[in-house]
Amino acid sequence: MIKIAPSILSSDFSCLESEIKKIENAGADWVHIDVMDGNFVPNLTFGAPVVKMIRKTTKMFFDCHLMVEHPETYIDDFVAAGADMIVVHVEATKHLHRCIQYIKSKGVKAGIALNPATSVTTVENILGDVDLVLVMSVNPGFGGQSFIPSSLEKIKALRKMIDTRGLNVDLQVDGGINDVTAKEVVAAGANVLVAGSYVYGAADTTAAIASLKG
Ligand code: DX5
Ligand code: ZN
Repeated sequence: MIKIAPSILSSDFSCLESEIKKIENAGADWVHIDVMDGNFVPNLTFGAPVVKMIRKTTKMFFDCHLMVEHPETYIDDFVAAGADMIVVHVEATKHLHRCIQYIKSKGVKAGIALNPATSVTTVENILGDVDLVLVMSVNPGFGGQSFIPSSLEKIKALRKMIDTRGLNVDLQVDGGINDVTAKEVVAAGANVLVAGSYVYGAADTTAAIASLKG
């Protein structure tokens, strides 16, 4: 079962309610929410107050991708705002295990993200504690970039680790996903696909999401 998580990074921020309804009606599974701090990544987006506002407009699953330094500082705010999943970067905190346990203690799903240059070996000792691993297939910070092909080997390696250990962990890919790269990442073992520009740039949102599901 492949899940599609369109990123509202590529939506029209002046009308987030209708932009979220659009993907909900088109068959999206999750809403991917890209939080950027202008420090961990060279761009700024929005924080928990915006998540709290859009929470009132939909019951969809909120997948919050925190591209911020010291993510542990913001967990309480995102939980209170209504996040269903909080994903932190392994590069962004010195105490990843503590951060993951804290997210889970709040009754929210916890995920970890890897930048393109970060080895899959960094997740070995935390894999059994998380609900999701996110492989960044572009350098985080911007929508509309090209898929980095070496991400496929990382996805394969992580799929093997998850299956060998019999874990129930989602394997998500984010960056440069379109109808062509979607097939490649699914073949490599991914089961949750983030897509920003491909979904929000499409004339027919339903057809775009269907084409990602394969
Ligand atoms: C990039 C974000 C992505 C972004 C993907 O830093 O994490 O979620 O929205 O955009 P596309 O699908 O256009 O590559
Ligand atoms: Zn993202």
